Amino acid sequence: DWTPDSFVDSTVADLKKKIGNDKVVLGLSGGVDSTVAAILLHKAIGENLHCIFVNNGLLRKNEFSSVLDQYKGMGLNVKGVDASARFLDELAGESDPEGKRKIIGKVFIDVFDDESHQIEDAKWLAQGTIYPDVIESVSVNGGPSATIKSHHNVGGLPDFMKLKVVEPLKMLFKDEVRRVGASMGIDPELLGRHPFPGPGLAIRILGDITSEKVSILQEVDAIFINGLKDSGLYNKVWQAGAILLPVQSVGVMGDERTYEKCVALRAVESTDGMTADWVNLPYEFLQKTSNEIINKVKGVNRVVYDISSKPPATIEWE
Ligand code: XMP
Repeated sequence: DWTPDSFVDSTVADLKKKIGNDKVVLGLSGGVDSTVAAILLHKAIGENLHCIFVNNGLLRKNEFSSVLDQYKGMGLNVKGVDASARFLDELAGESDPEGKRKIIGKVFIDVFDDESHQIEDAKWLAQGTIYPDVIESVSVNGGPSATIKSHHNVGGLPDFMKLKVVEPLKMLFKDEVRRVGASMGIDPELLGRHPFPGPGLAIRILGDITSEKVSILQEVDAIFINGLKDSGLYNKVWQAGAILLPVQSVGVMGDERTYEKCVALRAVESTDGMTADWVNLPYEFLQKTSNEIINKVKGVNRVVYDISSKPPATIEWE
């Protein structure tokens, strides 16, 4: 019978045997899969697991430092690499959704390759691939594999991709990954996190990306997500976030006319992201959130709520 505890025991034993005293490199994303994979490997090989957590500058507000601290608290041997400036430089002027994804994928691979070179004699690349990633050609969670496919046609395979691959979660579904994580004592809040796309806020800023727009969207998103948590709604939603629209609209503040930005809020119910329904959030919650955003976030004077389901709309706007 499959139980999380027996899975942990047998997987840790297998990993010890397979890896021995070799060094392993693993990219942490802050998400559930890479975290659970890291903790399993850490149990098996300890300090020989070298984790890399890259800040692409497109994460949620304070996410890089808080998640990095959380990883350190779990005893992981992790290096945080702040490559925000590099990502934002390369993204400057790019408005096309697929163009943004390509740039982010390429820069991620370059940064990750540089960092993995610093880990001498690494023999293995560990990935948090789960069963649905294996059976679907396009990974919804977009672990490095999806971006690597499009990149390696261009510049040849990066060195870290020549390492032997170890994927301890390859046979598990998402709910099993969460149960395994819980049985190893990982913080339930981390295990219950909404999915977040690899390209991050870049695909929630319609049009070109600037650091100013990223900051505005981070503030809006934080108000929305913290509000969901405070209202006990976060766990009833599969995924939520805010989108910065490329329109300005007229508003009024005191005696002044304003002409400022508009944000959309999106919250969906789903099981796998393939189909999704917009969530019927309480009007009182929407009202409070909208007021807080407009009062606190400079540069935003209008908030709309996305009431489109997938299909035909997608979850993300890009
Ligand atoms: P869509 O917008 O296609 O999103 O309905 C379905 C799910 O996939 C996520 N998503 C991505 N994840 N890289 C990722 O890692 C991407 O480029 C990407 N695009 C969409 C989205 O957040 C949702 O969970």
